[in-house]
Amino acid sequence: MLYDAVIFDLDGTLTESGEGIIRSAAHALKAMGRPVLPEEEMRRFIGPPLLWSFREYGRMTEEEAQAAVVKYRERYEAVGWAENAVYTGIPAMLKALKRAGAYLAVATGKPQVFTDRILDLFGLRPYFDAVVGISPDDHEADKRRLISAALPKTYRRACMVGDRRFDIEAARALGLDAVGALYGYGSREELEQAGATAIAETPDVLAGILLAGLPRERGVFCTFEGPDGCGKTTQMKLLAEWLKTCGWRVKTTREPGGGPISEAIRNLVLDPAVEGMTDECEAYLFAASRAQHVRDTIRPALERGEVVLCDRFLDSSVAFQGGGRGLGVGTVKEINRVAVDGTFPDATFLFTIDPDAAMRRRLDASAPDRIEREKSEFVGRVYEAFLGIAREEPERVLCVSAEGTIEAIQREVRERALPLLSRMQ
Ligand code: TYD
Repeated sequence: MLYDAVIFDLDGTLTESGEGIIRSAAHALKAMGRPVLPEEEMRRFIGPPLLWSFREYGRMTEEEAQAAVVKYRERYEAVGWAENAVYTGIPAMLKALKRAGAYLAVATGKPQVFTDRILDLFGLRPYFDAVVGISPDDHEADKRRLISAALPKTYRRACMVGDRRFDIEAARALGLDAVGALYGYGSREELEQAGATAIAETPDVLAGILLAGLPRERGVFCTFEGPDGCGKTTQMKLLAEWLKTCGWRVKTTREPGGGPISEAIRNLVLDPAVEGMTDECEAYLFAASRAQHVRDTIRPALERGEVVLCDRFLDSSVAFQGGGRGLGVGTVKEINRVAVDGTFPDATFLFTIDPDAAMRRRLDASAPDRIEREKSEFVGRVYEAFLGIAREEPERVLCVSAEGTIEAIQREVRERALPLLSRMQ
């Protein structure tokens, strides 16, 4: 590892915060009776100290600029701070740096409260040893002071990563290396003139510079389970979108299925026209589909460092074939041993709900498949088996009540998912 201490700017380096900043700056210009500038020029508000930007780009006096900052913060505080996303690949990079023992910090000209709120929102806080923003009555952000405060007491070699000349100049003045994040809001010319020691065109190039020689982080495998009609598919899709906003590369997939061979097995095993299939054959078909899916989809994605979200997995076989069909947990696990070959989920969301009510909801939506045609006793045994798995493995299986609104359930799913991703397995 080249650097044992890395200080990051926030806007335009870790987060793509342009929308919230531009809209809030436009709101302030309007409130001050100034024309809103063309998009190109508004983009320049991202990064530099606000007071400076309002003076420079808004052509304001010192007092006007101070009033504009107040107006800016009004809108930013209400909605602007969340009009934001993490650049793809950033959390995986931070995790790998942390695992290698690097000291990581944030030094930003943004008020401390918003900085903390944004890092918490996106689940980035656990990666940082220090987070330094400005205090509410500080109008001017002195980047040099912020970076100094963020540095550890001792280090071998430190670098600053930022997307505007303020970051680079301050870091160079402190004798640090400075990597210019060209994917942010500055230009190559600006970063080079400021003395950047390296330029990262994309977050992946940045990861290449900072992680040089370090192994890639394995991804995280997360499954979604529950009785038919519990709403897990909707929750999984919403979570996938959210995790992308948080900067993760996400692979969503499902069982049975996930690839052409596994989908062909799905069509056979769920076909309501198929009659006389033995319980053992059914269990082997689900396991066969899984053997293919693990090898051609799940494992490769985990090796690429992605977050894999899978709609049903081994627990469904334990619950449906082991519990529902009565083959028993041990037999189903044995049938699946070679199929999964050690690829077990890091975490599982189990959606709890009255299984009969869930099934009624399911059947209202569309025609049942071969397994969904089963009677209430079957559904009850499946559900009991799911609860049994949750009791056996409380660390892995996270029970979420599926009885609230989609939004409320999703809030809980997000809150519980983010810490899983930053956890060092
Ligand atoms: P699912 O994809 O949840 O159904 P839907 O298409 O309605 O969203 O699951 C398909 C059915 O297959 C479901 O009834 C559960 C069953 N199943 C098993 O019995 N064993 C298994 O191992 C798996 C993965 C699914």
